[in-house]
Amino acid sequence: MNKKIAVLAGDGIGPEVSEQAIKALDAIADRFDHQFTYCHAAVGAIAIDRYGDPLPAHTLKTCLNSDAVLFGAIGDPKYDNDPNAKVRPEQGLLRLRKSLGLFCNVRPVTTYPKLLHLSPLREDKVRDVDFVIYRELTGGIYFGDRGRNEDRTEAFDKCEYSQAEIERIAHLAFQAAAKRRGQLMLVDKANVLETSRLWRDTVGKMAPQYPDVQLEYMFVDNAAMQLIQYPKQFDVILTSNMFGDILSDEASVLSGSMGLLPSASIGSDIALFEPIHGSYPQAAGKDIANPMAAILSAAMMLDHFGLLEEAKTVREAIYTCLQEDIGTADLNTSLQYSCSMVGDLVSGFILDGKKALNKDKLNEQTSTII
Ligand code: IPM
Ligand code: MG
Repeated sequence: MNKKIAVLAGDGIGPEVSEQAIKALDAIADRFDHQFTYCHAAVGAIAIDRYGDPLPAHTLKTCLNSDAVLFGAIGDPKYDNDPNAKVRPEQGLLRLRKSLGLFCNVRPVTTYPKLLHLSPLREDKVRDVDFVIYRELTGGIYFGDRGRNEDRTEAFDKCEYSQAEIERIAHLAFQAAAKRRGQLMLVDKANVLETSRLWRDTVGKMAPQYPDVQLEYMFVDNAAMQLIQYPKQFDVILTSNMFGDILSDEASVLSGSMGLLPSASIGSDIALFEPIHGSYPQAAGKDIANPMAAILSAAMMLDHFGLLEEAKTVREAIYTCLQEDIGTADLNTSLQYSCSMVGDLVSGFILDGKKALNKDKLNEQTSTII
């Protein structure tokens, strides 16, 4: 298979983790005889510095000419303390989502047996947690009209949804639930918000088309609590843009490290794959960031291409590394591996299986990096 991949590595640790994801993709290409070509383009703060625009026209063009986008991270502390800044890195990501029509954000949350002790929750609460959040990504309050009155003492952000916007993501969420454990939880605030009531009406009317899926409803405040109290109950969560933003960050800590969680943003054509962690500027350039979320995002890309065996191989590589205590500093493994070394080992496993993880050889190479 031939695929063109736009690489938007972005800011902070984005470039170094994306590099490891590319190593894993190259190993897959080698082993399964595919051809992946990469085209790099600037996004985020680095694009503002170079071109005055977080999403320059040529970057968007590169994405539109590709089959998929591998995204690193965006954000720079110099923008964090000035929410009024006219040009901000986040605008690049939001415009990219809108321009590529990426209406559906998929964030799987899985825990790994070896890492349960890192979770802020008790091990028995997080063991076997396995759910996925379907977050609407191009509508709602994120993209509604906003503004201030004349003397700037009042402000508004409008939240709007159409039935069509709800239906297209709901179909994907129902389909996902049908392939998993058959439970779909619509999370909303239908006791207060009219848009939420439209979500309930619309999704409820679709349920008979998916007889194998059990549809349930939960208010978002309760969902925030249930995610902490009993996260195992969830299979597929479907929700609007802002609720999904908040709940997916909350859910991301369950597995013990944000550095493990991938995401996919899909629409009708080109899709984008991105680790859910941010740009972690304190670690930038130090080769200490966890590349696993970026590598697992590449696995989601392979799934999207229909390369299921290949995607499974990447996940197996990560799982095996974790079982063998291989990981970066955030995972508190006995030995601490650098970002690039984890990338090498994952791609080594993809090509040669477990013998690539030979402990004696590794002990020689591993230093006290941190
Ligand atoms: C995310 C991020 C973005 C969002 C920011 C960077 C605009 O938090 O992808 O969840 O709010 O959607
Ligand atoms: Mg977020």
